[in-house]
Amino acid sequence: MNKYDSELVSGLLNSDGFEMTDDIEKADVILVNTCSVREHAENRALSNISQLQSLKRRKPELILGVLGCMSRHLGDKIFEDNTYVDLVLGPDSYRKLPEFLKNRKRYKNVEYKEYETYTDIFPLRKDGVTAYVAISRGCNEECSYCIVPFTRGKERSRSIESIIDEIEKLLDEGFKEITLLGQNVNSYNYQGTDFPKLLKRVSEIENLKRIRFATSHPMNLSDGLIDVMAERENVCPYLHLPVQSGSNRILEAMKRNYTVEKYIGLVEKSMSKIKDLSLTTDIISGFPGETEDDHRATIELVKKVEFDSAFTFKYSPRDKTEAFGLKDDVSEDVKISRLAEISEIIREVSLKKNREWIGKVTDIMIEGKSRRSDSEVFGRTGGFKKVVLKQNNLSAGTIVPVIIKDATSQTLFGELVG
Ligand code: 5AD
Ligand code: SF4
Repeated sequence: MNKYDSELVSGLLNSDGFEMTDDIEKADVILVNTCSVREHAENRALSNISQLQSLKRRKPELILGVLGCMSRHLGDKIFEDNTYVDLVLGPDSYRKLPEFLKNRKRYKNVEYKEYETYTDIFPLRKDGVTAYVAISRGCNEECSYCIVPFTRGKERSRSIESIIDEIEKLLDEGFKEITLLGQNVNSYNYQGTDFPKLLKRVSEIENLKRIRFATSHPMNLSDGLIDVMAERENVCPYLHLPVQSGSNRILEAMKRNYTVEKYIGLVEKSMSKIKDLSLTTDIISGFPGETEDDHRATIELVKKVEFDSAFTFKYSPRDKTEAFGLKDDVSEDVKISRLAEISEIIREVSLKKNREWIGKVTDIMIEGKSRRSDSEVFGRTGGFKKVVLKQNNLSAGTIVPVIIKDATSQTLFGELVG
């Protein structure tokens, strides 16, 4: 979502006559887009911002701005403490950018605007074949550890027409794959149209080769969605379904509104209906009160579900959240060792899942040259697995059948079929 917001802001600047540069020394305006989801992300952003101070000293006319969730969370302090920061804008205030650039007076706006969806602004993407399209902003859930409902506010869904329109423009520009974005896509609702209906409508757009979406909250993953995924060929068999913990006690404290049993039931149903479904997840380790038994329950869940891959995080206390009132009582050492153990099990199950592909034929869409070598390209399967091919004459966006010959926990290696 942050990447999409950066593209949105680039679109705004672009229509105001600004161009992007890769050379920071040449920039007239530097905007740092920020995330607040964990303290580590904020600390990194703060250190990036302070490093830009020397650039600003050498070039006083340089405009330095801070955007995004951290502006909403810490914007007042950042603006007061750092006089070299010219601009602070929260996630609902990007429209103020052109006005600020006209009069260039130090400015801060971190207001929450309940209806802002930026529907009329066309984001400026980097060249490529895959693009993000936001379908909603904000979040109505109240997960007790999460700062997003505070920084991004209540959920608002974009109109179906504006989503379709943006995708059609992207196809005209040569994009082939779209990822629909929302903090919780499953609660999309625009004048009675829910997410499965939207997804089906999007899948009917001519020439749209591949559709993905993120993120799905397990609580409202409906049969209707599973059916659309199973039926529509251009909807990729890929589900990012954050589980967060394998312990019912912790899930309740996290206010996730499902149990481990319900989660496993959803996974089994989805797997049985959607061919070759890949499943990924998010896991938080060391939530307040997490015992060794809770941790073991998470390990057991990972082993049972066999996720294709997972993002794992140490619990980070965030003010403005309910869990901030709980004692952060799992020590740093224990959080680190639990996380390491979970990551190792995930590596093992990912390797097992990837090796199951050896000998099978599947379509991949080429995304570009491989990082390792110019004589190789890489693409992705419908399940979002990266496949490296010894081939250099295939251009990005081409869909080709490959046979998988080898696999690591991260990458598949294939050969063209035919
Ligand atoms: N600490 C650690 N991880 C968090 N996440 C959200 N809030 C926190 C927090 N306070 C993780 C969740 C979520 C992902 C985007 O970030 O796993 O799914
Ligand atoms: Fe945060 Fe929960 Fe909303 Fe995800 S669903 S953004 S974890 S509050």
